[in-house]
Amino acid sequence: MEYRFARRMGCLPPSFLGELFRVSSQPGVISFAGGLPGTEHIDVEGIARASREVMEEEGGSALQYSTTEGYLPLREYIADRYRTRLGIPASADEIQIVNGSQQCLDLVAKILVDPGDPVGMERPGYLGAIEAFSLYEPVIHTVPLTDAGPDPEIFSDLLAREPLKFFYGIPNSQNPSGRTYTQECRKMIAELLDGTDTLFYEDDAFGELFFDGKPRLPVKRFLPEQGIMSGSFSKIVAPGMRIGWISAPGPVLARFNAAKQASDLHSNFFCQVILHHYLATHDLDSHVRAVSRVYGEHCRLMCELLDDLMPPAMTHTNPEGGMFLLCTLPPGISSMKVFSEGVKEGVAILPGVPFYVDGGGDDTIRLNFSNASPEAIKEGVTRLARVISRLS
Ligand SMILES: Cc1ncc(COP(=O)(O)O)c(C=O)c1O
Repeated sequence: MEYRFARRMGCLPPSFLGELFRVSSQPGVISFAGGLPGTEHIDVEGIARASREVMEEEGGSALQYSTTEGYLPLREYIADRYRTRLGIPASADEIQIVNGSQQCLDLVAKILVDPGDPVGMERPGYLGAIEAFSLYEPVIHTVPLTDAGPDPEIFSDLLAREPLKFFYGIPNSQNPSGRTYTQECRKMIAELLDGTDTLFYEDDAFGELFFDGKPRLPVKRFLPEQGIMSGSFSKIVAPGMRIGWISAPGPVLARFNAAKQASDLHSNFFCQVILHHYLATHDLDSHVRAVSRVYGEHCRLMCELLDDLMPPAMTHTNPEGGMFLLCTLPPGISSMKVFSEGVKEGVAILPGVPFYVDGGGDDTIRLNFSNASPEAIKEGVTRLARVISRLS
C-alpha cells in the first residue's frame, strides 16, 4: 500500500540525530553531543518522598482528570517566581502548564502559523524549534546571533521587510551557542517590535542557570503585551517529569489553551501535583544555585582546555550560564568529519549543521558541559584535540 502522509511531513528537516545519539552512546565514548542535565542533580530521594506523600494525602484526586490550564497551586508558584525573580507582574491566570516547554513550540506555531507565513529566529537556532515550526510550513527567516544578541541591523531590516508572525529567540544561554543577549539588546528588540504585530517568543529554558546566580531581565518585561515566554522544570528539577509552562497575553493564551485541549486535554496531572508538593517542601533557590555553580565550573574547565589544547584558529563562545558552548572550527575542517573521526577516538560532539535552517554551520560544533564529570571533560577535550590536530 502507499502511505499517503500529509504534505507537512515532507517539511521536516532531515534528521540524523537518532543515528548520532545512538553512535555517541556507545560504551567508551565520552559524549558532549547530548543536552542532558547532570543526572546527579536530580533529587531522586526528595521526589520519591513527594510522590509518596501525594499518594497518601491526595492519591484519588491527583490521579483524576483535570483542567487544561494545569494545577492552580503550581501555576501560582510559577507566577510568584516571575514576580520575585524577574519583576514581571504575573498572575496564575497568565500561566498554562505544558508537557515540557517543547510543547509550546508546537502549539505556538499551531495557533499562529499558516503555510507560507513568515517567522523569524536566531542563526544558529534551536534545532527542536526548527523541527516543531517546520511542520506548520512557515517561511523561516534568520538573524545572525552575535555575542550581544541578534544582529540589530539585520533584525530591524527583517522587521521592516517581513510581517513576521513572531520572532523566536533564547535570550539566556542560547542553545546551541550558549550566548546571552545584553540588556541593551533586549531593550532594542522591545523597541523595534513595539507597535508592530509581531510577537516576541522568548524561550527561557536556561534562565535559572546563570553561573553568577543573577537573573537577567526578560524581553517580556519591556514588551508585556507582545511577549510570549516559556519556561521549564526540566533543567532545574527533572526533565523526565515533562513539565513546563507558557505565559502569554490573554488572547494568545486562550487560543493556546484551546489547541492544547484538542491535543491532549491536559498535562500529566499526577506529576504536576507531585512537582508542586516537592517545590513547596524544598528550597529550589539553593538547589538551582548549587547546580549553576557546578555547571559554571564545568564550563570554565572546558573553555580553559579548549584554549590550551586547540589550534588558535579554533574559537569558542564564553557562556554565562546554561549547558552548551559553540566552537568555530579552524578553516577547512568539517563538523561532520569531526563527528565521525571523534567517535573513532571515543568522543562525540554535535555538528552545527542542523542548527542552521538556511544552510551552513558545518564549521561549528556544539559541546555540552552539564552531563560530563570534570575528568570526562578533561579526557574528552584531549581526545577532541587529537581529532582536530589530525584533520588540520
Ligand atoms: C532552548 C530549548 N527550548 C526548549 C527545550 C525543551 O525542553 P523541555 O521540553 O524539556 O522543557 C530545550 C531542551 O533542551 C531547549 O534547549
